[in-house]
Amino acid sequence: MVLKTIVAFVAIGALAVLSGAPQTEAHSWADCIDWKFKDPKKPSWNDNGGRCIGYARRYPVALNMPFGTQDKIFRYFQQDADPRVAIPCSNRGDGYGSNETRADPVSKAYGGNFGRMTTTTVGDTLCVRWPAKNHAFPQYLIDRFVQINLSPVRNGKDITQLELLKNTVAKLDFTKCMPGADIDLKACGGCFKVPRRAPGTYLLQWRWMLDQGQWYSSCADIKIKK
Ligand SMILES: *[C@@H]1O[C@H](CO)[C@@H](O)[C@H](O)[C@H]1NC(C)=O
Repeated sequence: MVLKTIVAFVAIGALAVLSGAPQTEAHSWADCIDWKFKDPKKPSWNDNGGRCIGYARRYPVALNMPFGTQDKIFRYFQQDADPRVAIPCSNRGDGYGSNETRADPVSKAYGGNFGRMTTTTVGDTLCVRWPAKNHAFPQYLIDRFVQINLSPVRNGKDITQLELLKNTVAKLDFTKCMPGADIDLKACGGCFKVPRRAPGTYLLQWRWMLDQGQWYSSCADIKIKK
């Protein structure tokens, strides 16, 4: 039995190497919630192709880490597979900046060592950026679309994952990345229009499935102005 398992392990490992399949451990996160392209006619997600003016909660910009390396500080958050019990936003705090619970007031999770909070308007376009982390291949993804879930609750507490799933406002193609050989650190992203909401601050969740039932999420507050 044990021997069989070991043989199976070796076989799978060899297969992965031979087929060039990406490492399954690599996980992504929302690197930027409000990315502004330098040249909207030639949209680029690369560092030199724009800048980020809105971030997830407690995003540690002061650490100046290169794009796509923030998994070293546990920036990613793997949720429970069951949306009835899954915590929408990381509550772990087991690495600088990885605690994405709602701050009170929400503005406390932004500014200083953290990134800025997103400020936008209804109908405005928000462009969200993430690192490929070896997974920007349609053939390896069961669901290639990132959910953008936007709470309908204004200036209020975070809602549950089940409630967030009733408020998916966009589905962005995870595999839309910059060309390049580095399949781990390629920059990817997608844009969507801010839906109708009364002025106020709302929870925005980026949620992506790596393997079956293996979800990752990032949370941000966005201020929708008149
Ligand atoms: C995360 O942040 C919240 C709000 O500031 C705080 O109450 C909580 O203790 C933090 N959690 C951890 C694990 O640091």
